[in-house]
Amino acid sequence: MQLKFTFALLTSFIATGLASTVANVEADIATISSQVTALDNAINAFPATGGTLLQALTIHNDAAALSPSIQKGTTDVQGVPPPISETDGQTILKSVQGFEPTILDALKQIVAKKAALAALPVGGIVALVKQDLGFLSGNTTAFENALIASAPTDLKSQATAIKTAIDAAFATAIAAYA
Ligand SMILES: *[C@@H]1O[C@H](CO)[C@@H](O)[C@H](O)[C@H]1NC(C)=O
Repeated sequence: MQLKFTFALLTSFIATGLASTVANVEADIATISSQVTALDNAINAFPATGGTLLQALTIHNDAAALSPSIQKGTTDVQGVPPPISETDGQTILKSVQGFEPTILDALKQIVAKKAALAALPVGGIVALVKQDLGFLSGNTTAFENALIASAPTDLKSQATAIKTAIDAAFATAIAAYA
């Protein structure tokens, strides 16, 4: 009897530990969104000439901070017990669409700033950005795939459209830093 109770309690703890909620996902997306804005601002703040190492490292640090947030978002999306309701699916999709233009701008601007970053007297910044882009691209793909997998059937094409646009921007940026 005692053992049975302990087992039931343990099982419920484990279940609680693994499961996530739509609210968790929404909180993750809010974090991702504000970190994407910080990254985009840092890239835009880097001038065409006379940029500093500190400014370049701010871009790197912002990119590095974003990566674990996207990974947490992916884990949480995967942890929401299916099916995700139509309403929740729409809410999630809308939040992702909310920061989509900002990540697209960040990826466009990082291409535009390549020469300026390469001109820094300290070497290795271009290689660092290249590495950041690779990590973020991989993390983002995993997140996008999780979102598509969890989206209600009628929202999957919209989720896929977001992936297509962001993946294309990553491909362009990665090619510029190759
Ligand atoms: C996500 O980014 C981390 C670095 O923050 C990296 O180690 C990992 O390989 C990336 N994941 C994928 C799937 O690319």
